[in-house]
Amino acid sequence: MIQERVLVTGGAGFIGGTLVAELLARGHRVTIFDDLSGAADDWWEPVGGRPSDAAEPDAELRFIHGDVRDREAVDAALAGHEIVVHLAAHTDIRAGLVDPHRDLAIGVIGTWNVLDAMRRLDIRTLLYASSGTIYGTPAVVPTPEDHGPLLPESHYAAAKLAGESLISGFAALHDLRALIFRFGNTVGARSDHGVVHDLVVKLLRDPSRLELMGDGRQAKPYVAVEDVVAGMLHALAQPPQRPVTTYNVGTAGTLTVDRVADLVVQALGLDEGAVARTFLGASPVGGGGWPGDTPLVDFDTSRLVSIGWRPRWSAEEAVLRAAAGTAVRMMNGSRPLLTADERRAAGRRAGGDKSPTRTAAATAR
Ligand SMILES: NC(=O)c1ccc[n+]([C@@H]2O[C@H](COP(=O)([O-])OP(=O)(O)OC[C@H]3O[C@@H](n4cnc5c(N)ncnc54)[C@H](O)[C@@H]3O)[C@@H](O)[C@H]2O)c1
Repeated sequence: MIQERVLVTGGAGFIGGTLVAELLARGHRVTIFDDLSGAADDWWEPVGGRPSDAAEPDAELRFIHGDVRDREAVDAALAGHEIVVHLAAHTDIRAGLVDPHRDLAIGVIGTWNVLDAMRRLDIRTLLYASSGTIYGTPAVVPTPEDHGPLLPESHYAAAKLAGESLISGFAALHDLRALIFRFGNTVGARSDHGVVHDLVVKLLRDPSRLELMGDGRQAKPYVAVEDVVAGMLHALAQPPQRPVTTYNVGTAGTLTVDRVADLVVQALGLDEGAVARTFLGASPVGGGGWPGDTPLVDFDTSRLVSIGWRPRWSAEEAVLRAAAGTAVRMMNGSRPLLTADERRAAGRRAGGDKSPTRTAAATAR
């Protein structure tokens, strides 16, 4: 692969950390553009240290503190790049219920700003993080990429789909090559939200009981973050076929929340019989764990598989690894044992407060 200068919006986030580390390992030069609103305080850990804000434009790794809602900042940041990976989003789906404007401003206008800057700067390649939630409750499962109509059931999912639509329009008119990735539930030790993280937190606090949102039957495709990143880069390496290509990214089949709970209990080495489970009940709005939660996401990944990508870990393996890694991270990092909801209520992000500068050794990796 040719080494290119890649800008990653949201590159300080969970998926961004793994992606940026992999891009660097493959010899690309990377710029992270992120406002850190949703990043852990030790977001730089996967890349070996916090990159300097003042790094030269041709540095191996740069960080620009910026907001995708700020059109001028996006324009200035994107200049000089050949590829843009657009991950920045308001990823707290539940918070969107009470503050839908953030999904419009970050998800829709932010994506427009990225696309329009690419048009002006003549940048031709975009990778976009969409979501399996855009299918809503589809008539066909496993759902292929060309299924329609797409009727999302949350502000978050609607904004993701709007982003896809904007990309299609820009690609048709401005010679853009776009790869759209509809991720399943992406898991790993550094995720600070989602069911695996929250169940680990609850069990570390009290290993004798586990409260599950919904009825335990919500079913999703789970996939390891490393496999998601491998899928994106594998698709990028293929010869361009169409202006826009969409890929579902997940493992085959689904896991229910109840099954995820089994795996988290197992990963933490607890005795299944000693953990009393309670279910809060399915949401009267939509039937998921909460209003806006899609109770079933089950998509067909054969398009990505047909070009040679294979997930390294099954859904069960991915959840086991993520749960074990999350527990270690929570305990070693003296992190507050808070679920994503509790953290939001407390108005804080995920990590501690250490932020050493990226070392020469790490930079040379
Ligand atoms: N993790 C999953 O299971 C999953 C599933 C489907 C889709 N996705 C999508 O993948 C992408 C990455 O997800 P993630 O899990 O790494 O989320 P994350 O919340 O860890 O990362 C998102 C990053 O975007 C940044 N950001 C938020 N608003 C911004 C703004 N206005 N300007 C600049 N930066 C901003 C945050 O600071 C954060 O670093 C997102 O677009 C998300 O919607 C994730």
